[in-house]
Amino acid sequence: MGFKEDFVWGSATAAYQIEGAAFEDGKGLSVWDTCCKRPGFVKHGHTGNVACDHYHRYKEDVKLMKEMGLKAYRMSISWPRILPDGIGKINEKGLDFYDKLVDELLQNGITPYITLFHWDYPQELYKKGGWLNRDSSNWFAEYTKVIVDRLSDRVNHWMTENEPQCYINLGHGEGTHAPGLKLDLSDVLLAGHNSLLGHGKAVQTIRKYSKLDCEIGYAPIGVVSFPDTNSKEDIEAARKATFGFDGPNLWNAAWWIDPAYLGHYPEEGLKAFEKWMPKIGANDMETIHQPVDFLGINVYQGGRVRAGVSGKPEVVELKAGYPETAIKWPVTPEALYWAPKFFYDRYKKPIVITENGMSGLDWVSLDGKVHDPQRIDYLNRYLKEYKRAAEDGVDAKGYFCWSLMDNFEWAEGYGERFGLIHVDYETQKRTIKDSGYWYKQVMETNGENL
Ligand code: FCB
Repeated sequence: MGFKEDFVWGSATAAYQIEGAAFEDGKGLSVWDTCCKRPGFVKHGHTGNVACDHYHRYKEDVKLMKEMGLKAYRMSISWPRILPDGIGKINEKGLDFYDKLVDELLQNGITPYITLFHWDYPQELYKKGGWLNRDSSNWFAEYTKVIVDRLSDRVNHWMTENEPQCYINLGHGEGTHAPGLKLDLSDVLLAGHNSLLGHGKAVQTIRKYSKLDCEIGYAPIGVVSFPDTNSKEDIEAARKATFGFDGPNLWNAAWWIDPAYLGHYPEEGLKAFEKWMPKIGANDMETIHQPVDFLGINVYQGGRVRAGVSGKPEVVELKAGYPETAIKWPVTPEALYWAPKFFYDRYKKPIVITENGMSGLDWVSLDGKVHDPQRIDYLNRYLKEYKRAAEDGVDAKGYFCWSLMDNFEWAEGYGERFGLIHVDYETQKRTIKDSGYWYKQVMETNGENL
C-alpha cells in the first residue's frame, strides 16, 4: 500500500521566479518586470531581472535535477518571452530556449510538466485591459497554440494557469502582486471570469493541436479547511468551510474550480457575489468546462475547523507558539490529507499536488552544506498525510515539491527560501540542501521510507 507504482515525483518552479534574462534576446516586458520597478512594491527593491539566471544556467540546473533523482519537473513558460507583445509576432529566440530546455530534460529522463501561465502577464496586453478585456481568453489561446505547436511533439503534460486566486485577487483586488491594481469587486470578478474562459480555451487549443496524446490540468490553490477531530460533524463542517461561502470571499476554491470541473459557478458563491457578478455569455460556461485529466492543487496550509451550532463551521484558532515556517505560514500537515480527499470527492479527477513546501532560514554552513532539518520534517509530515489519503482511496497521481531551488518569491523578494537547492544570489552557486538528498530517497523508494 502507499503511492501507486506510476506515481509522479517532481519539483516545481515558475519562469519569472528563476529565469532572469528579463531584457534579453527579444523578450517583451511582463507586468512583474514593470511592477518590480515601482518603489516599495517588492521588499528591498528586489527584482526578477537576474533571479537564478536559469536562462543561462539551465544545463547545470537540469544536471542537478538528475543528481537529485527527479522524475518530473513542473516549469512555466514566460508568455512575453515567446510573444513580446502578447499576441502577433513570435520571438524565435524565446521559443528556442524552451525547446532546448525540454530536450535537456528529456535527455536526462525527466518529464516536463508545463504550466502555461504562472503570473508574468505581457505588459502590452495589460495596456489593452489585460484580463478585464473580453478578448483576453483569445489572446491566451493564441499564445497556447504557439507553445503547443512547438513543444507538443515532446511535451504531453500541461497545466493551464497557476493559482488564479493569487493573480486575480492579489494582482487585481488587493494590489500587492502585479499588475498592482485595486479594483472593485465587480471588476475583479470580471477578470476572474475571463481568466476562467482562458483556461477553457487553452484546454481546447491543447486538445486540438497537440501532436501527442496528452494530459491536461489546472493548478489553483487548494484552499482547504480540515476537521478539528475525526467526528462526522467536524468533517462535514470542514468540507463546508472549504467549498462554501461565508460572504463574498474570493479565496474560496470552489469559485475557481467548479466552473472548470463541474461546469457552473457554485450556487452559494453566486448568491454571495450577486451584486457584483459580471454578465456571463450564453456559451461561457460550456467553454470553461472542458474535459480535463487531472486536478492540480497547490497546498501549503489549511485552517482548522469544527462543527458549531447546527453544523456551522467554526474556526479553531491555533495555539500560541504553534509551529510556523519562515514566511509565517502554519505547519498543518493535515491539509495534505484533507485537500486531496475533499477535492477528489468533489471533482472526481486524479489529484496532483502541484506545489507544497516551505520557506526556511537556510544558509550554507561552515562545512559547505545546507542543513535544513525543518524542511525534511515538514515534507515528511505532509507526505505521510498525502500517502494516507492515497491509501484511503484518493486517486493520488503526483507530487511536486515547491521549489526546486530558492528563487524570487514575488513581493517578498529573495528573502524567502523555498528551495531543495540553495542559491547564493551573489555568485549563483547552487548547493543541494539536506532536504534535497532526503527527497531523493523518498522518490527512489516511492515514499516507502515516509
Ligand atoms: C505559490 C506560488 C508560487 C510560490 C509559492 C511559495 O502561491 O504559486 O509561485 O510563490 O506560492
